[in-house]
Amino acid sequence: AKSSHWKKLLNSFLMPNLSKRKADIISTVEFNHTGELLATGDKGGRVVIFQREQESKNQVHRRGEYNVYSTFQSHEPEFDYLKSLEIEEKINKIRWLPQQNAAYFLLSTNDKTVKLWKVSERDKRPEGYNLKDEEGRLRDPATITTLRVPVLRPMDLMVEATPRRVFANAHTYHINSISVNSDYETYMSADDLRINLWNFEITNQSFNIVDIKPANMEELTEVITAAEFHPHHCNTFVYSSSKGTIRLCDMRASALCDRHTKFFEEPEDPSNRSFFSEIISSISDVKFSHSGRYIMTRDYLTVKVWDLNMENRPIETYQVHDYLRSKLCSLYENDCIFDKFECVWNGSDSVIMTGSYNNFFRMFDRNTKRDVTLEASRENSKPRAILKPRKVCVGGKRRKDEISVDSLDFSKKILHTAWTRLTRWTSYYLIISHTEY
Ligand SMILES: *[C@@H]1O[C@H](CO)[C@@H](O)[C@H](O)[C@H]1NC(C)=O
Ligand SMILES: *[C@@H]1O[C@H](CO)[C@@H](O)[C@H](O)[C@H]1NC(C)=O
Ligand SMILES: *[C@@H]1O[C@H](CO)[C@@H](O)[C@H](O)[C@H]1NC(C)=O
Ligand SMILES: *[C@@H]1O[C@H](CO)[C@@H](O)[C@H](O)[C@H]1NC(C)=O
Repeated sequence: AKSSHWKKLLNSFLMPNLSKRKADIISTVEFNHTGELLATGDKGGRVVIFQREQESKNQVHRRGEYNVYSTFQSHEPEFDYLKSLEIEEKINKIRWLPQQNAAYFLLSTNDKTVKLWKVSERDKRPEGYNLKDEEGRLRDPATITTLRVPVLRPMDLMVEATPRRVFANAHTYHINSISVNSDYETYMSADDLRINLWNFEITNQSFNIVDIKPANMEELTEVITAAEFHPHHCNTFVYSSSKGTIRLCDMRASALCDRHTKFFEEPEDPSNRSFFSEIISSISDVKFSHSGRYIMTRDYLTVKVWDLNMENRPIETYQVHDYLRSKLCSLYENDCIFDKFECVWNGSDSVIMTGSYNNFFRMFDRNTKRDVTLEASRENSKPRAILKPRKVCVGGKRRKDEISVDSLDFSKKILHTAWTRLTRWTSYYLIISHTEY
């Protein structure tokens, strides 16, 4: 039985369930670096960018609202004829590039192909061509008798998204992460078994920097679950695995980083061993702190903070929903135990946020050690609504405002999280988290 549930864990990465998809379900969220723009990707391959409403003195009450800025189809469904496999259009990850000129650039990826998009504004249109008419139709050269000088005329603001690069044909498995390097010239893409390094200018070639594929796939015991570059050291990156381990690699040490520089793993507490230990220790997300000093990992029941200088155990462990320990059997049966939750830091690395079930999400303050459970539901999604803390009770008497662990809705889950702080109102934070049904 053990090896069969082990296989099931690996298959939850290698063969994700295609049948559950609905085009408009959000599959990833990402703010740009100042939080003015928010990009979402969905299962239908679309990217929608929202822009925070401009601040103005007489509209203070509308602060923090985001309006649609641009919508475009990033990926289309495809079919791999060689393997007889459908390639989903679902956007797995979006990453913004730092802004360098008036246009914005972002990377979006589905399971196989990464694309670089340029999003730019246009509010002028050239008029008075010589060889074509105003509708763009070519004119008969015989009718052209005079030369005109084209002029730019103002028009309604248009936001255009154009694909600038397509990075294809480098991944056999499913891309789970993309990460822009701090040199801003390269980025990496990680799938279940390999990590590739790309130069933004070169689409026909990538460098394989990690490869954990065994010669015989029957011997596979571990997959890569997430990867990220160090925020300041462009040679350093981490990746996490389904065995609950994290490897820190240095690209200066060797071109193929098969030998890690550091290996983070917590020895298992024998008293906590259970049939599900391997599954719940699989890491679903890994994030460097902004300072670059810590890494945070999310597994099924906890969030852990690791100090880069201490490999044998995390310095902090936060219980996200420990009350689910007694329900692991049913969560295994309905496949929820394979859900992959993300986690984020706030801007100063002092608060951690991650999702849970029943539209709940959790925040942990690392300094005060206080934590809170909040609910992201449609009913309280009005701008400036103040979220009431929620409490889950396990057995015994339930207080009026508590919810029993048995009445949690496991189909409402907050898997994707992003965090920004709006600069002008220091006490006001905007949290976007998303639900996947
Ligand atoms: C984020 O987007 C806003 C535009 O709405 C822009 O002004 C800002 O420069 C962007 N920030 C970065 C770091 O890309
Ligand atoms: C990639 O394309 C460039 C320019 O078209 C070419 O010079 C280069 O040889 C190509 N590299 C590979 C590995 O195909
Ligand atoms: C063991 O389980 C308890 C709660 O059931 C938890 O508080 C503790 O952190 C666990 N230990 C480890 C090493 O995971
Ligand atoms: C992070 O959260 C703490 C505690 O709420 C707050 O004091 C700090 O200003 C936050 N930092 C940023 C950059 O948002």
